[in-house]
Amino acid sequence: MSTYPKYVMAIDQGTTSSRAIIFDHQGEIVSVGQLEHEQIFPRAGWVEHDPLEIWRNVRKVVADAEASADINTREIAAVGITNQRETTVVWDRTTGQPVHNAIVWQDTRTQPLVEELAGDAGMDRFQERTGLPLASYFSGPKIRWILDNVDGAREKAERGDLMFGTTDSWLVWNMTGGVDGGVHVTDVTNASRTMLMNLDTLDWNEEICAEMGVPVSMLPEIRSSSEVYGKGRTRGFLKDVPIAGILGDQQAAMFGQACFEKGMGKNTYGTGSFVLMNVGTEVVPASHGLIGTVCYKIGEQPAVYALEGSIAVTGALVQWLRDNLGIISSAAEVEPLAASVEDNGGAYFVPAFSGLFAPHWRPDARGALVGLTRYVTKAHVARAALEATAYQSREVVDAMDAASGSAITELRVDGGMTANELLMQFQADQLGVPVVRPAVTETTALGAAYAAGIAVGFWYDTEEVARNWAEDKRWTPAMDGDRRERLYRNWKKAVTKSEDWVD
Ligand code: G3P
Repeated sequence: MSTYPKYVMAIDQGTTSSRAIIFDHQGEIVSVGQLEHEQIFPRAGWVEHDPLEIWRNVRKVVADAEASADINTREIAAVGITNQRETTVVWDRTTGQPVHNAIVWQDTRTQPLVEELAGDAGMDRFQERTGLPLASYFSGPKIRWILDNVDGAREKAERGDLMFGTTDSWLVWNMTGGVDGGVHVTDVTNASRTMLMNLDTLDWNEEICAEMGVPVSMLPEIRSSSEVYGKGRTRGFLKDVPIAGILGDQQAAMFGQACFEKGMGKNTYGTGSFVLMNVGTEVVPASHGLIGTVCYKIGEQPAVYALEGSIAVTGALVQWLRDNLGIISSAAEVEPLAASVEDNGGAYFVPAFSGLFAPHWRPDARGALVGLTRYVTKAHVARAALEATAYQSREVVDAMDAASGSAITELRVDGGMTANELLMQFQADQLGVPVVRPAVTETTALGAAYAAGIAVGFWYDTEEVARNWAEDKRWTPAMDGDRRERLYRNWKKAVTKSEDWVD
């Protein structure tokens, strides 16, 4: 058997599962391994993951992906990592043990801390430097919470014994040797979500770190998104394979959707939904409730920036209908149930389970199901849940049009919910522009594979990978304008009912 490296692997460490996907040179999927991990909800508003379970699962899914296509590690040219962003892991550099469960991006426990940091200066006090409003979503306050609440953690951190990382750093450190000389790095896209990095210089901001109470010594080195950080050193697990790409999952989707030109954008429908637009190599001041973030940086080339509209809950609402209400028994059932009625029956569902993110940034909001009458059935509720995804996406696309001064002409989409025809048609109806799904919808993993492959010369550059992008399906707007606007007005009214709920 030839051992010429014919493939690139992506490890996609997401909110609900970890996956390993092997791609060939055409960017097509050869093999997949996937495992879900436990979602830990210790209290209302708290969400945790076990970092050791994630590390175990990653090793299993990599082995599964290799075994199911009979691929030998030596045939893999490079591995790229993409990950749920902001989720915070703090571990002991001498034992390799996490000092606390990972605090997940959706977790709202740091809200009081965030308000204390805002003080009289307001929620935007770090926005100019970091691109981000103060919110419980980002990593900085989560690190501070761990240091303040885990016995002995602050002393250890100050002695230089603790390390922080988002799950990309946690995995790379373990893959490259862990306590035995593991490499402690992250990339610019993940660092841009900590609220500790200067968006323009791409360095840690020591002043903000000090105000946040986070010792700089525990932070990873910030590197580009496409370069060799180290090689696998775990026996039987990607041994000697270059780890050559790191991108936060939404930025990876931009890469996989080939949004390399200024003005190009995409929406990924996962646990939440994230609309990003490439704004080029200059930082664009965040406005209209959007955030400024790094889109990617290839090796020594200048960083490319993006504006982002982050929506906390979209696909997670369908899971909630399944797991908490039991009105469907699988996520796929939501579409036929919603399609069994003609409209939402007057019901609107605002899934503000983690407060509202973009463009509202209302931590005081909580979920609301409004417009109920005895006429409303579970089918209407299912429909309202799907429509909520489309209305929330329209809110951030409208904000993006306003912030960039030009209207988007079509939206590239990806993620699990793009299989839902009813939702995609309704999305096009609400946006008033076509919604376009590519042939390979695993754009997150594909983007990480591309970043890694470019670093090792498996692919030459972004132009080469852009040629692999192909359209699969296009939904064009079909709803009349009056109806479209009436529904959206009602949605806006529903949003006001969800706000100002938490004391
Ligand atoms: O910012 C959070 C985001 O990166 C999570 O994405 O796909 O794991 O829900 P996902």
